[in-house]
Amino acid sequence: MKSRDLRLIYDRSAPGHEGYRLPDLDVPEQPLDRILPKEALRAEPPLLPEVSEPEVVRHYIRLSTLNHHVDKDTYPLGSCTMKYNPKLNEDLCRLPGLAGIHPMAPEELAQGLLGLLHRFTGELAEIVGMDTVSLHPAAGAQGELLGIRLIRQYHDHRRNKKKTVIIPDSAHGTNPATARMVGYETVEVRSKEDGRLDLGALREVVNEETAGLMVTNPSTLGLFESEIAEASELLHSVDGLVYMDGANLNAMLGLTRPGDMGADMVHINLHKTFSTPHGGGGPGAGPLGIKAKLEPFLPVPVIVERDGRYLLDSDRPHSIGRLHPYVGNVGVILRAFAYIRSLGGDGLARISRGAILNANYLMKKIEEDYPVAKPGWCMHEFVSTLSWMRKQGVKNIDVAKRLLDHGVHAPTVSFPLIVPDCFMIEPTESESPTSLDRYAEILREIAREVREDPETVKSAPHRTPVRRLDEAGAARKLRVRWRPKPDGERGSND
Ligand SMILES: Cc1ncc(COP(=O)(O)O)c(C=O)c1O
Repeated sequence: MKSRDLRLIYDRSAPGHEGYRLPDLDVPEQPLDRILPKEALRAEPPLLPEVSEPEVVRHYIRLSTLNHHVDKDTYPLGSCTMKYNPKLNEDLCRLPGLAGIHPMAPEELAQGLLGLLHRFTGELAEIVGMDTVSLHPAAGAQGELLGIRLIRQYHDHRRNKKKTVIIPDSAHGTNPATARMVGYETVEVRSKEDGRLDLGALREVVNEETAGLMVTNPSTLGLFESEIAEASELLHSVDGLVYMDGANLNAMLGLTRPGDMGADMVHINLHKTFSTPHGGGGPGAGPLGIKAKLEPFLPVPVIVERDGRYLLDSDRPHSIGRLHPYVGNVGVILRAFAYIRSLGGDGLARISRGAILNANYLMKKIEEDYPVAKPGWCMHEFVSTLSWMRKQGVKNIDVAKRLLDHGVHAPTVSFPLIVPDCFMIEPTESESPTSLDRYAEILREIAREVREDPETVKSAPHRTPVRRLDEAGAARKLRVRWRPKPDGERGSND
């Protein structure tokens, strides 16, 4: 087949495409039993449920309502930014010219997609104040892994003898886990009374062996780290690097940028800030923004532009190697691209202002019953402490389960570890004042219950399709096979 023919298959707008037919494949037809071995052939038709279209539709609609999701109701899961995913994102990523490209298509057949990814790289870099971005990481945690591997490569290249990564005590668990995976020792630095990074304590632990600092800004307490520029300077004075965990970027879009605060790199959870689906543990994308000094170490291939053509460059001798089979989780990246394009720069800044306003509005409405651990104005989220409820025998997880009875989702209750009985609420900009008022009313109602009838809260949920589950067990022993019941009734998922 000539290369022009190939181009026509992929590029529907190419001249001469009209009326074009795929070439006939020169493969003689064969009955299946001639091609497959006997033992691989079925003796009888498979036992499949026979159902009509309305039954199939009802089945999936019913399934979609059994679990909670952001299209159903409020979902203020702190640090996870469960914002609404506009359907426009879906339209763009499903365009046949984008969705139909094979991941291994040669560069000349994927110029449109590569150009779009290249442009997106530049836009993301501009948003976070970095020199470039790697689209490879498939999650925030993988962005961290890439970042710390780049730190290691940077120091090895310069023959620096580095041993430790410093991490504040308010950090998400993936931060220390990542640093350890890459072979560093972790040093925890305590936060100040007001919850912010303690510069004095940081000075005590920074030394010539420090490889880097992993810092989340705004922090998981929903606080802006006002001394971040000084902290970055301190790290740079020992040739250490600053890794910013950008999980909470939703509070900074168009207002300030990690690169301007001295950070050398930042991961961007597209499935949080840029409204792509979280999925069940995926699919996600955690692109990593970096400063120019780290560019030689980026994973391959890197999309580069030469003479108006886009190429996949793998000839990079100092690269850490491959991180992702292709150049990233493209379906997710396209959705985020649609989101950013549809909002523009001013629109993005409005998103962050809205997220901050909503968080402060809700905090003020409920703080009497849900006292804030670190009082003051917050950014995108705030963390309450439910210690007074514990005296009634009620734990934060009980309140979380009771919220499900009201058809709304719970806040995060598993971290930050420095807040006892924490309750981390991130409403996002997606919620209207009416929905925030309703959520506040439900929370106040549950607080009343804790005082007057704690047993009802402790035994919640009461109205969900299933009660309390062994979530860790279910995640580790996943069984999703459809199984007909022996008496011929409706089947179930194990
Ligand atoms: C502060 C912070 N850092 C890192 C991560 C990890 O991101 P991901 O879930 O995309 O791997 C999370 C996830 O919740 C987070 O909240």
